[in-house]
Amino acid sequence: MNYLIGIDVGTSATKTVLFDEAGTVVATASCEYPMYQPENGWAEQKPEDWRDAVLATLKTVAEAVENKEEIKGIGLSGQMHGLVMLDEAGQVIRPSIIWCDQRTGKEVEDMLEIMPRERWIEITANPPLTGWTAAKILWVRKNEPEHYKRCRHILLPKDYIRYILTGEFATEVSDASGMQLLDVPKRCWSAEVLNALSIDPALLGTVYESCEVTGTLLPEIAQKTGLTCDVKVVGGAGDNAAAAVGTGIVRDKTAFTTIGTSGVVFAHSSKVSIDPKGRVHTCCCAVPGAWHIMGVTQGAGLSLKWFKDQLCQDYVGKAEEAGKDVYDLINEDVNKIPAGSERLIYLPYLMGERTPHLDPDCRGVFFGLSAIHTKAHMLRAVMEGVSYSLCDCNQILKEMGVEVTQMMACGGGGKSPNWRQMLADLYNCTVKTVKQSEGPALGAAILAGVGCGIYPSVEEACDAIIREENSTEPIKETVKTYRAYHEVYQSLYRSLKEDYKKLAKL
Ligand code: XUL
Repeated sequence: MNYLIGIDVGTSATKTVLFDEAGTVVATASCEYPMYQPENGWAEQKPEDWRDAVLATLKTVAEAVENKEEIKGIGLSGQMHGLVMLDEAGQVIRPSIIWCDQRTGKEVEDMLEIMPRERWIEITANPPLTGWTAAKILWVRKNEPEHYKRCRHILLPKDYIRYILTGEFATEVSDASGMQLLDVPKRCWSAEVLNALSIDPALLGTVYESCEVTGTLLPEIAQKTGLTCDVKVVGGAGDNAAAAVGTGIVRDKTAFTTIGTSGVVFAHSSKVSIDPKGRVHTCCCAVPGAWHIMGVTQGAGLSLKWFKDQLCQDYVGKAEEAGKDVYDLINEDVNKIPAGSERLIYLPYLMGERTPHLDPDCRGVFFGLSAIHTKAHMLRAVMEGVSYSLCDCNQILKEMGVEVTQMMACGGGGKSPNWRQMLADLYNCTVKTVKQSEGPALGAAILAGVGCGIYPSVEEACDAIIREENSTEPIKETVKTYRAYHEVYQSLYRSLKEDYKKLAKL
């Protein structure tokens, strides 16, 4: 039997899963680490934490297979956009500035002065964005020149892991799309952009397609993890592009919503399709020769985790006592509250917002709080607020004429029947799940399988492995209720827009 490993370097944890070639989970291991917020709107993580988590979890899953030679390949996936800077010796120079960091408002303005917005969109398929890597590189160059001077390699989070595992400096098209340095239609680094920003191309790794082999395990890594040096490491994909493969979203008219730390509505596209207003992102996808369009809400699972960590010690205690998952207990109570949370609306902008506002300065709000409301109302409002934002993403895809006949839900939040019902009601369409719930890790493992010649193509592998499981239908009455709430939700941002700017300056 052949085995494949998928690694997902997430924001809350790294999850490593060993699959057999039929896509069945054989072993799984995960390891959590912190996110640091040195200032309001900033977000950093230590690449060394990712490295330690990957090595530990790889070792654990490798133990499940007796004949290690049967483990053929590793696929990497992970949080996008994070900036990892290495010096000449391959040492990390500073903590990674990760995807949800919003410190680069000024750098985005600078980028727009350097090159017109339209040209950015033509080349990188997106307008300059605060959370994307290019703006972060400019921030470090301006604010920490000593760090920039020492920098010899710029990598994304999962590509730093590739360097640790194989010694290779490389990336692949889906994640590289989120650096804002890639010519997205042509799937290669853009000399024009690098030149305009005065970034030395030698700092960047080689760009591969997602299922191409980028290297094999270094002997010391093989020794540490118990794997063999013959294990191939393929390009892999950014977490959303990998989740698409792991959910079977590899053809036109198919889409998914993932609720992880971020929330994403993602549609596959066999052609480059761009929102001229830049509210959703267009990136290369993990299927060679195809792209995807995605709307991103910054604080999805992040909002619920924040609320749980700050205000739900009672739930945490009860869950520990009962040996239950704290989110299951939360969901039980949320289920008792009516749609609309009895006139309570939450804006999930804890880390600013991308789709549809592209606003690093907006922040979270509970609107309509009354003495009638309980913690369960607030929890439901948080889940609804995230769903309103995802509905905004979905509406833009519709506006762009992206036809979707199949909408799947995945990610930690996608496992919640409450959250899936909210999505079905707000999108007014059927929302399905797949049996295989490993998302990005499975997607990355499938890409590894294609790279190792175990599967003929990404599409054929998905057809053989992925099976639908649940289906959630919209409820007519609730569709109406949510439509009214969503309208108020949308007008709240318009009302607060200028105040957010003022608040950010205080
Ligand atoms: C996508 C994005 C997030 C991260 C973290 O643009 O920033 O989805 O990949 O998961």
